[in-house]
Amino acid sequence: MKIQAINGFKDILPDEVTRWQHIEQVTRDIFHRFNFKEIRLPILEETQLFARSIGQSTDIVEKEMYSFTDKGITMRPEATASLLRAFIEHGMHVQQPVHKLYTIGPMFRHERPQKGRLRQFHQLDAEIIGAVEPEVDAELMAMGQLLLAELGLEASLEVNSLGCPQCRPAFRQKLVDYLEKYTDQLCGDCRRRISTNPLRVLDCKNPNCRELVNDAPSILDALCTDCDEHFARVRSSLDLLGVTYTPNPLMVRGLDYYTRTTFEFIARNLGAQSAVGAGGRYDGLIEELGGPKLSGIGFAMGIERLVLLLQEKDKSESAPRNQVDIFIAALGDQATLKCFQLAHLLRKTGIRAGMDYSGRSLKAQMKLAGRLGARFTLIVGDQELQEKKAGLRNMQDQSQEDFSLHQTPEETARNLKTIITESLPVNERPDFTRRQI
Ligand code: HAM
Repeated sequence: MKIQAINGFKDILPDEVTRWQHIEQVTRDIFHRFNFKEIRLPILEETQLFARSIGQSTDIVEKEMYSFTDKGITMRPEATASLLRAFIEHGMHVQQPVHKLYTIGPMFRHERPQKGRLRQFHQLDAEIIGAVEPEVDAELMAMGQLLLAELGLEASLEVNSLGCPQCRPAFRQKLVDYLEKYTDQLCGDCRRRISTNPLRVLDCKNPNCRELVNDAPSILDALCTDCDEHFARVRSSLDLLGVTYTPNPLMVRGLDYYTRTTFEFIARNLGAQSAVGAGGRYDGLIEELGGPKLSGIGFAMGIERLVLLLQEKDKSESAPRNQVDIFIAALGDQATLKCFQLAHLLRKTGIRAGMDYSGRSLKAQMKLAGRLGARFTLIVGDQELQEKKAGLRNMQDQSQEDFSLHQTPEETARNLKTIITESLPVNERPDFTRRQI
């Protein structure tokens, strides 16, 4: 019997992992610039943590959670609830007034798999706890936009406010009154939602429902003075930071904990699952989970969706993939041994070096160097070794120069490292500072 991966659970093969590592590296770099600290969390939590935070009547809690019902535990469908649970459990609020935390890892939802939608997927999740100011909302969205920009991706930012416990109930009632007039024209899900979660009708994908909600009352006209002011300041702060966005009063998130600001990063190339990232404010949630009265805001990006977007982009730009900085093509037994030693010294200095020991022809080795995307190839034959020389080919323009081997192997490695480093644009040069031989 052939055993295969479960539907919606995906292997991430080595070629793709390179992209994941790049995404994680850029993410950490940016998050640290904004002063975020990493937190690592367990995958299993008590089921009631998610029921109480995400909401009993949400799709996630109602039908998408992987729960061990006999044990009352669930594989986390998102990171916010777990992160807040840890924040409260460890009394982190006493250390300082504002906390900026991020976590990266797998989440689990039993959804119907399709492009960009998996049952095990991964999020980059950032949360700011303890700050109520609208500038913080703008800073967080600006960070998300910077992350996408530094990955070379484009996505539009849609922003909404869902109000607070003061103004939302009145809006909810107004919306129910409106929807009840059209019950027979709504899809089955939305008919049910009128009593369980009427705001969700606003972002139903069914064309009939979409048409109807276009004329529905707008949440942005129903905000109380405080929420209205908060939203106005979020918008002016985004303007100040030069972050482009579109207000979208129909955007309602699939999690119940949001108050005031909500937002989504929408990418054009993702098909039906167009949100590459999303988040919002959750001012009452920490208290609801038994913690102190602190506000919070955060977002999560889906790594699989970022990978899809990078793949699309690479297709259109046919970007070269450099797996090694230098490939060493050795011809002959003596040369192979010398090069074997040289490759190790180069790796010790921080250079990614590739080599083949099987005694293949120069042509075959050059082909391999090309496949690995080597920037340079050092060609050393037994004859050249006697004469203390080699050929150094720049693989980009195919120019070749003589390279002197009149040095110790350590010196040779250092010289090659200098040549490779100087051939790279300054912002792409690896940080070799602590690696010496
Ligand atoms: P969410 O909108 O459920 O929000 O998910 C955030 C992102 O995770 C989505 O925009 C998407 O990129 C990715 N994602 C969600 N479900 C899947 C799936 N089945 N397959 C692939 N990717 C998926 C949250 O999870 C909130 N916790 C975000 C947040 C953080 N709000 C405040 N802080």
